[in-house]
Amino acid sequence: MSAAREHWGSRFGFIMAAAGSAVGIGNIWRFPYTTGNNGGGAFLLIYLAMVLGFGIALATAEMLVGRSAQRNPVGAFRILGGKGWPLVGYAGALTGFVILSFYIIVAGWTLAYIWLMASGQLHTTDPEQLNQVFGSFVADPVRPIAYSALFMGLTAWIVAGGIAHGIERWNKVLMPSLFIILLVLVARSLTLPGGMAGVEFYLKPDFSKVTAHTFYDAIAQVFFSLSIGMGTLLTYGSYLSKNEHLPKAALTVAMIDTGVAVLAGLMIMPAVFAFGFNPSAGPGLTFVTLPAVFASMPGGDLFGVLFFSLLAIAALTSAISILEPMVSYFVDEHAASRHKTVIIASLVCFALGIPASLSFGLTAGFTIAGKNWFDLMDFLANNIMLPLGGLLTAIFVGWVWKDAVKELRNQGALSLRWAPLWLLVLRFLAPLGILWIMLSALFG
Ligand code: TRP
Repeated sequence: MSAAREHWGSRFGFIMAAAGSAVGIGNIWRFPYTTGNNGGGAFLLIYLAMVLGFGIALATAEMLVGRSAQRNPVGAFRILGGKGWPLVGYAGALTGFVILSFYIIVAGWTLAYIWLMASGQLHTTDPEQLNQVFGSFVADPVRPIAYSALFMGLTAWIVAGGIAHGIERWNKVLMPSLFIILLVLVARSLTLPGGMAGVEFYLKPDFSKVTAHTFYDAIAQVFFSLSIGMGTLLTYGSYLSKNEHLPKAALTVAMIDTGVAVLAGLMIMPAVFAFGFNPSAGPGLTFVTLPAVFASMPGGDLFGVLFFSLLAIAALTSAISILEPMVSYFVDEHAASRHKTVIIASLVCFALGIPASLSFGLTAGFTIAGKNWFDLMDFLANNIMLPLGGLLTAIFVGWVWKDAVKELRNQGALSLRWAPLWLLVLRFLAPLGILWIMLSALFG
């Protein structure tokens, strides 16, 4: 047995850490452009239905497994499930490496943009020019990789500090600040002349754009944004004591996460329309449109610096949560030193990030099934590995682990009238829904 497991210092700290994991570049960068690519409001509705329909139930399930076992994903599935199930934990760790390999690249862009903003190189509302700056930066073979190394280093440094003094301490400060800045920027974007067309595009459902792929993109986004399917919430749950009200925690985190995603769209879409950008511009959306918003507001350079700092911070609080499960695995199961594990895992992630970055420049022509390396890793993690991880977790908690509801009741302290509904979702709705959506998009 190892020494006593470290726990969160406070409930607020835990909620901020879990929300910090959920709120990341998935919300601010990926959600608006995915919505844009999928015809706006109809996508938003499908997304919301999925968060309510199974996102919250799955987040609860994952945290419960961790809290009960007080272990990393591999150990938790071994203790509660026995033979075979630790594979789900191993797959989660693998998913973590895949996600970090492209996550740190975008996070590196945000660090670079702090500097570009501060040095006035983005001070224009001309879409052409902003596109040009972005395009030439991401295609550079050296600079984005150097920034991603810096970002990976920051992540490693915080994770090395442990739970209460590393992860929790940072989240408690950074998350509230992020929220305030977001509200200010939404207010500015909404009051831009011509911005309302963006709101209409964003919120008005156009169901003619809905295909099997819309559902597939929505499901991938739900998993990615709520941080479910790879053991992050499981690991964060393992640092909780048994009296935490998990469904309430999951609901709170999902509300914060969805709120930020919706607000991020309201920050970006009005600006997209006000300055004549293309709402389906894809990954570049945040990096080319927001600078135009800043250039158009008094004190905009300062706000721009602040915004990209906070975006970097949101990325940081998420990246931490992707690294922590692997670290806890080596620490729990192999009695490895936290510091050593952090360093090695970070170096591996950094190395895996290099091809992801190069796929915007040097190796842009190299594609598999029409996707460059970056898109391929994004697709593999978000559209395949996370949904499968979530599906298996649902099956495990719904069918295999007999004590799930008993554990959820906090030793009888909570009366959970809707627990049967939760089980129903885990047993049928989530697994069948996930399978059906995946199969119909991949083979339909
Ligand atoms: N949710 C984060 C975002 O939206 C990314 C993230 C953090 C994540 N931890 C995760 C995604 C675990 C999947 C699994 O940016």
